[in-house]
Amino acid sequence: MVIVYESKTGFTKKYAMMLAERTKYKVLNVKDVSSLNADDEVILLGWLKAGKIQGISKVRKLNLKAVCATGLARTAEPSPETVIERNKIKDIPFFYLRGGCLPVDELKGMDKLMIKMFLKMLKSRRDKDEELIESITHMEKGYDGVDDKNLEPVLKWLENR
Ligand SMILES: Cc1cc2nc3c(=O)[nH]c(=O)nc-3n(C[C@H](O)[C@H](O)[C@H](O)COP(=O)(O)O)c2cc1C
Repeated sequence: MVIVYESKTGFTKKYAMMLAERTKYKVLNVKDVSSLNADDEVILLGWLKAGKIQGISKVRKLNLKAVCATGLARTAEPSPETVIERNKIKDIPFFYLRGGCLPVDELKGMDKLMIKMFLKMLKSRRDKDEELIESITHMEKGYDGVDDKNLEPVLKWLENR
C-alpha cells in the first residue's frame, strides 16, 4: 500500500506522515503518482474543497483502495453522504479526518476569496448554534484539529483487510 496525499496548507500532509509512521508504508505527494505501477495499492488522503476531495482525479485510474478526506468541521461537510456522492467513491472505504485551517487572512487567491464569502454567508445566519460559531472562529483565527487518534478507524481497517 502506498499513501498518496494532496495538501495545500499542510494539515493533510501531517496525517499522511503520521499514517506512514504508524504503518511504514511509502508516502507520496500526489504530483509524483506517475512513479507508481498500475497495480500498486493506494490510499488517498486529500483535503476537502467545497465538498470535492482534492487529488482524487489523479488516483482514480490507479488501484485505489481507500479514501480519507480532511476538512475543517467535526464531520465531513456538506455531509459524509454528499462527499461520497460528489466524489463518486461509494464502492471504496471512506474516512473523514478532522484537519485544520490557517487564519483566513493568511490564505491566498481564490481560497481566501471563497472562505471570505463563506464566512460572510455564515455570519449572516440568524440562528447560529455552537458548532457554527466554532466554525466561524476557526476560519477567522485558524485551527489545528489534527490528532493521531483520528487515524484509528483507518488503522483498524488496514489491519482487518
Ligand atoms: C476554499 C476552501 C474550501 C473548503 N471547503 C471545505 C469543505 O467543503 N468541507 C470541509 O470540511 N472543509 C473545507 N475546507 C477546509 C479544508 O478542507 C481544511 O482546512 C483542510 O484540512 C486543509 O488541508 P491542507 O492543510 O492539507 O490543505 C475548505 C478550505 C478552503 C480553503
